[in-house]
Amino acid sequence: MGRSHSISEPMDAACSAPSAVAPGEPCERYTRPAAVLHWLMAVLLIGQFAVGLYMVELPKRTPEVAYFYNLHKSFGLIALMLITVRLAWRWRNPPPPSRALHRSAMQEKASRISHRLLYLCMLLMPLFGFAGSSFGKYPVKFFGYALPRLGWESPVLQSFFRQAHSVVAWLLCALIVLHLLAVAYHLATSGRTILQRMSLK
Ligand code: HEM
Ligand code: HEM
Repeated sequence: MGRSHSISEPMDAACSAPSAVAPGEPCERYTRPAAVLHWLMAVLLIGQFAVGLYMVELPKRTPEVAYFYNLHKSFGLIALMLITVRLAWRWRNPPPPSRALHRSAMQEKASRISHRLLYLCMLLMPLFGFAGSSFGKYPVKFFGYALPRLGWESPVLQSFFRQAHSVVAWLLCALIVLHLLAVAYHLATSGRTILQRMSLK
Protein backbone atom coordinates (compact mmCIF):
# COMPACT_ATOMS: atom_id res chain seq x y z
CA MET A 1 0.00 0.00 0.00
CA GLY A 2 1.36 3.47 -0.82
CA ARG A 3 4.83 4.32 -2.05
CA SER A 4 8.00 2.65 -0.87
CA HIS A 5 10.14 4.31 1.79
CA SER A 6 13.51 5.64 0.74
CA ILE A 7 16.19 4.45 3.16
CA SER A 8 18.16 7.67 2.71
CA GLU A 9 15.28 9.79 4.10
CA PRO A 10 16.14 11.38 7.46
CA MET A 11 14.92 9.40 10.47
CA ASP A 12 14.76 10.37 14.13
CA ALA A 13 16.31 9.22 17.41
CA ALA A 14 18.79 6.37 17.61
CA CYS A 15 17.49 3.08 19.05
CA SER A 16 18.31 2.67 22.72
CA ALA A 17 17.33 -0.98 23.05
CA PRO A 18 19.29 -4.01 21.87
CA SER A 19 17.57 -4.48 18.58
CA ALA A 20 17.17 -5.93 15.16
CA VAL A 21 18.52 -2.64 13.80
CA ALA A 22 22.25 -2.82 12.99
CA PRO A 23 24.57 -1.00 15.48
CA GLY A 24 24.68 2.74 14.83
CA GLU A 25 21.64 2.62 12.57
CA PRO A 26 18.87 5.08 13.48
CA CYS A 27 15.61 3.85 14.97
CA GLU A 28 13.07 3.61 12.22
CA ARG A 29 9.62 4.63 13.33
CA TYR A 30 6.16 5.39 12.15
CA THR A 31 5.26 9.09 11.94
CA ARG A 32 3.58 10.52 15.04
CA PRO A 33 0.13 10.89 13.42
CA ALA A 34 0.33 7.23 12.32
CA ALA A 35 1.19 6.17 15.88
CA VAL A 36 -1.54 8.37 17.45
CA LEU A 37 -4.11 6.94 15.02
CA HIS A 38 -2.88 3.38 15.68
CA TRP A 39 -3.30 3.63 19.47
CA LEU A 40 -6.53 5.63 19.33
CA MET A 41 -8.07 3.04 17.03
CA ALA A 42 -6.81 0.12 19.13
CA VAL A 43 -8.61 1.55 22.20
CA LEU A 44 -11.72 2.40 20.18
CA LEU A 45 -11.94 -1.05 18.56
CA ILE A 46 -11.55 -2.88 21.85
CA GLY A 47 -14.32 -0.66 23.31
CA GLN A 48 -16.52 -1.36 20.28
CA PHE A 49 -16.04 -5.12 20.68
CA ALA A 50 -16.91 -4.93 24.39
CA VAL A 51 -20.05 -2.81 23.88
CA GLY A 52 -21.12 -4.80 20.76
CA LEU A 53 -20.93 -8.15 22.52
CA TYR A 54 -22.59 -6.78 25.67
CA MET A 55 -25.51 -5.02 23.96
CA VAL A 56 -26.61 -8.00 21.80
CA GLU A 57 -27.24 -9.99 25.00
CA LEU A 58 -29.51 -7.31 26.57
CA PRO A 59 -33.31 -7.72 26.62
CA LYS A 60 -34.81 -6.09 23.49
CA ARG A 61 -36.86 -2.86 23.48
CA THR A 62 -35.56 -1.43 26.76
CA PRO A 63 -34.06 2.04 27.32
CA GLU A 64 -30.79 0.34 28.23
CA VAL A 65 -30.51 -1.51 24.92
CA ALA A 66 -31.36 1.67 22.97
CA TYR A 67 -28.67 3.55 24.91
CA PHE A 68 -25.94 1.00 24.20
CA TYR A 69 -26.92 0.53 20.53
CA ASN A 70 -26.78 4.30 19.97
CA LEU A 71 -23.45 4.52 21.79
CA HIS A 72 -22.05 1.66 19.69
CA LYS A 73 -23.27 3.20 16.44
CA SER A 74 -21.91 6.68 17.33
CA PHE A 75 -18.45 5.45 18.29
CA GLY A 76 -18.55 3.11 15.27
CA LEU A 77 -18.99 6.15 13.02
CA ILE A 78 -16.05 7.83 14.74
CA ALA A 79 -14.06 4.65 13.94
CA LEU A 80 -15.12 5.00 10.29
CA MET A 81 -13.86 8.60 10.19
CA LEU A 82 -10.58 7.68 11.88
CA ILE A 83 -9.88 4.73 9.59
CA THR A 84 -10.52 6.95 6.56
CA VAL A 85 -8.03 9.52 7.86
CA ARG A 86 -5.60 6.72 8.77
CA LEU A 87 -5.72 5.15 5.32
CA ALA A 88 -5.24 8.54 3.67
CA TRP A 89 -2.26 9.26 5.94
CA ARG A 90 -0.81 5.81 5.31
CA TRP A 91 -1.14 6.35 1.57
CA ARG A 92 0.92 9.56 1.72
CA ASN A 93 3.34 8.37 4.43
CA PRO A 94 4.77 4.89 3.83
CA PRO A 95 5.78 2.85 6.89
CA PRO A 96 9.43 2.72 7.96
CA PRO A 97 11.46 -0.05 6.30
CA SER A 98 11.16 -3.34 8.12
CA ARG A 99 13.97 -5.30 6.49
CA ALA A 100 16.00 -5.35 9.75
CA LEU A 101 12.99 -6.58 11.70
CA HIS A 102 12.25 -9.65 9.65
CA ARG A 103 14.39 -12.71 9.26
CA SER A 104 13.10 -13.81 5.89
CA ALA A 105 11.21 -12.57 2.86
CA MET A 106 8.39 -14.85 3.99
CA GLN A 107 8.08 -13.00 7.34
CA GLU A 108 8.11 -9.66 5.54
CA LYS A 109 5.34 -10.83 3.23
CA ALA A 110 3.23 -12.25 6.08
CA SER A 111 3.53 -8.93 7.93
CA ARG A 112 2.49 -6.95 4.84
CA ILE A 113 -0.50 -9.18 4.10
CA SER A 114 -1.72 -9.23 7.70
CA HIS A 115 -1.50 -5.42 7.95
CA ARG A 116 -3.51 -5.06 4.74
CA LEU A 117 -6.15 -7.45 6.05
CA LEU A 118 -6.31 -5.50 9.32
CA TYR A 119 -6.94 -2.29 7.37
CA LEU A 120 -9.57 -3.98 5.20
CA CYS A 121 -11.46 -5.35 8.22
CA MET A 122 -11.19 -2.02 10.07
CA LEU A 123 -12.87 -0.37 7.08
CA LEU A 124 -15.51 -3.05 6.43
CA MET A 125 -16.53 -3.31 10.10
CA PRO A 126 -18.18 0.13 10.44
CA LEU A 127 -19.36 0.12 6.79
CA PHE A 128 -21.28 -3.14 7.28
CA GLY A 129 -22.58 -1.95 10.65
CA PHE A 130 -23.83 1.27 9.10
CA ALA A 131 -25.35 -0.56 6.09
CA GLY A 132 -27.15 -3.02 8.41
CA SER A 133 -28.64 -0.15 10.41
CA SER A 134 -29.59 1.78 7.25
CA PHE A 135 -31.88 -1.07 6.19
CA GLY A 136 -33.29 -1.50 9.71
CA LYS A 137 -36.23 0.01 11.54
CA TYR A 138 -34.31 2.56 13.60
CA PRO A 139 -32.38 5.46 12.04
CA VAL A 140 -28.72 5.86 12.94
CA LYS A 141 -28.24 8.59 15.52
CA PHE A 142 -24.83 10.19 15.93
CA PHE A 143 -24.79 11.10 19.62
CA GLY A 144 -28.52 11.88 19.45
CA TYR A 145 -28.47 13.57 16.03
CA ALA A 146 -30.50 11.46 13.53
CA LEU A 147 -28.57 10.97 10.28
CA PRO A 148 -30.37 10.87 6.93
CA ARG A 149 -31.54 7.36 6.05
CA LEU A 150 -29.37 5.94 3.26
CA GLY A 151 -31.39 2.76 2.74
CA TRP A 152 -34.98 1.62 3.10
CA GLU A 153 -36.58 -0.86 5.47
CA SER A 154 -35.54 -4.30 4.28
CA PRO A 155 -35.28 -7.20 6.76
CA VAL A 156 -33.36 -9.29 4.20
CA LEU A 157 -30.64 -6.67 3.59
CA GLN A 158 -30.53 -5.77 7.27
CA SER A 159 -29.95 -9.40 8.21
CA PHE A 160 -27.34 -9.83 5.43
CA PHE A 161 -25.27 -6.82 6.57
CA ARG A 162 -25.63 -7.70 10.25
CA GLN A 163 -24.28 -11.16 9.58
CA ALA A 164 -21.46 -9.68 7.50
CA HIS A 165 -20.76 -7.29 10.43
CA SER A 166 -20.57 -10.24 12.78
CA VAL A 167 -18.34 -12.38 10.48
CA VAL A 168 -15.90 -9.49 9.92
CA ALA A 169 -15.87 -8.87 13.71
CA TRP A 170 -14.54 -12.40 14.30
CA LEU A 171 -12.10 -12.16 11.41
CA LEU A 172 -10.78 -8.87 12.80
CA CYS A 173 -10.55 -10.43 16.24
CA ALA A 174 -8.45 -13.32 14.87
CA LEU A 175 -6.19 -10.88 13.00
CA ILE A 176 -5.68 -8.82 16.17
CA VAL A 177 -4.69 -11.97 18.11
CA LEU A 178 -2.24 -12.84 15.32
CA HIS A 179 -0.94 -9.24 15.38
CA LEU A 180 -0.35 -9.40 19.14
CA LEU A 181 1.44 -12.76 18.78
CA ALA A 182 3.69 -11.21 16.12
CA VAL A 183 4.47 -8.26 18.42
CA ALA A 184 5.24 -10.71 21.28
CA TYR A 185 7.52 -12.71 18.95
CA HIS A 186 9.47 -9.58 17.97
CA LEU A 187 9.68 -8.50 21.61
CA ALA A 188 11.11 -11.90 22.54
CA THR A 189 13.59 -12.06 19.67
CA SER A 190 14.64 -8.42 19.16
CA GLY A 191 13.76 -6.50 22.33
CA ARG A 192 11.70 -3.30 22.45
CA THR A 193 12.57 -2.05 18.95
CA ILE A 194 9.20 -3.19 17.67
CA LEU A 195 7.32 -1.01 20.18
CA GLN A 196 9.65 1.94 19.57
CA ARG A 197 8.62 1.85 15.93
CA MET A 198 5.04 2.62 16.96
CA SER A 199 5.82 4.79 20.00
CA LEU A 200 4.04 8.11 20.54
CA LYS A 201 7.26 9.98 21.39
C1 HEM B 1 -7.29 -3.26 17.95
C2 HEM B 1 -6.07 -3.57 17.94
C3 HEM B 1 -5.02 -3.29 16.87
C4 HEM B 1 -5.10 -3.10 15.52
C5 HEM B 1 -6.36 -3.14 14.67
C6 HEM B 1 -3.76 -2.85 15.04
C7 HEM B 1 -3.42 -2.61 13.70
C8 HEM B 1 -2.16 -2.39 13.24
C9 HEM B 1 -1.79 -2.17 11.85
C10 HEM B 1 -2.76 -2.13 10.68
C11 HEM B 1 -0.45 -1.97 11.81
C12 HEM B 1 0.38 -1.71 10.55
C13 HEM B 1 0.64 -0.25 10.44
C14 HEM B 1 1.15 0.10 9.05
O1 HEM B 1 2.13 -0.49 8.60
O2 HEM B 1 0.56 0.99 8.44
C15 HEM B 1 0.04 -2.07 13.15
C16 HEM B 1 1.36 -1.94 13.53
C17 HEM B 1 1.81 -2.14 14.80
N1 HEM B 1 1.07 -2.48 15.92
FE1 HEM B 1 -0.91 -2.70 15.99
N2 HEM B 1 -2.90 -2.89 16.10
C18 HEM B 1 -3.63 -3.16 17.24
C19 HEM B 1 -3.18 -3.29 18.52
C20 HEM B 1 -1.87 -3.28 18.87
C21 HEM B 1 -1.36 -3.51 20.22
C22 HEM B 1 -2.22 -3.79 21.45
C23 HEM B 1 -0.01 -3.45 20.13
C24 HEM B 1 1.04 -3.62 21.20
C25 HEM B 1 1.02 -4.52 22.13
C26 HEM B 1 0.34 -3.13 18.76
C27 HEM B 1 1.60 -2.91 18.28
C28 HEM B 1 1.93 -2.59 16.99
C29 HEM B 1 3.26 -2.32 16.55
C30 HEM B 1 4.50 -2.33 17.42
C31 HEM B 1 3.20 -2.04 15.19
C32 HEM B 1 4.36 -1.69 14.25
C33 HEM B 1 4.76 -2.92 13.51
C34 HEM B 1 5.96 -2.62 12.64
O3 HEM B 1 6.96 -2.25 13.21
O4 HEM B 1 5.88 -2.74 11.42
N3 HEM B 1 -0.82 -3.05 18.02
N4 HEM B 1 -1.00 -2.33 14.01
C1 HEM C 1 -15.08 -0.49 14.03
C2 HEM C 1 -16.28 -0.38 14.42
C3 HEM C 1 -17.16 -1.49 14.95
C4 HEM C 1 -16.87 -2.64 15.63
C5 HEM C 1 -15.49 -3.17 16.04
C6 HEM C 1 -18.11 -3.31 15.91
C7 HEM C 1 -18.24 -4.52 16.58
C8 HEM C 1 -19.44 -5.15 16.83
C9 HEM C 1 -19.59 -6.41 17.51
C10 HEM C 1 -18.44 -7.25 18.06
C11 HEM C 1 -20.91 -6.72 17.55
C12 HEM C 1 -21.56 -7.97 18.14
C13 HEM C 1 -21.65 -8.96 16.96
C14 HEM C 1 -22.54 -10.12 17.18
O1 HEM C 1 -22.37 -10.84 18.15
O2 HEM C 1 -23.41 -10.30 16.31
C15 HEM C 1 -21.63 -5.63 16.91
C16 HEM C 1 -23.01 -5.58 16.75
C17 HEM C 1 -23.66 -4.54 16.14
N1 HEM C 1 -23.09 -3.42 15.57
FE1 HEM C 1 -21.14 -3.00 15.46
N2 HEM C 1 -19.14 -2.55 15.38
C18 HEM C 1 -18.60 -1.43 14.79
C19 HEM C 1 -19.27 -0.41 14.15
C20 HEM C 1 -20.65 -0.32 14.01
C21 HEM C 1 -21.36 0.74 13.33
C22 HEM C 1 -20.72 1.97 12.66
C23 HEM C 1 -22.69 0.44 13.41
C24 HEM C 1 -23.88 1.21 12.90
C25 HEM C 1 -23.89 2.47 12.58
C26 HEM C 1 -22.81 -0.81 14.13
C27 HEM C 1 -24.00 -1.44 14.41
C28 HEM C 1 -24.12 -2.63 15.07
C29 HEM C 1 -25.40 -3.27 15.35
C30 HEM C 1 -26.79 -2.71 14.99
C31 HEM C 1 -25.11 -4.46 16.02
C32 HEM C 1 -26.09 -5.49 16.54
C33 HEM C 1 -26.32 -6.55 15.51
C34 HEM C 1 -27.39 -7.51 15.94
O3 HEM C 1 -28.25 -7.13 16.76
O4 HEM C 1 -27.35 -8.64 15.44
N3 HEM C 1 -21.54 -1.26 14.48
N4 HEM C 1 -20.69 -4.70 16.47
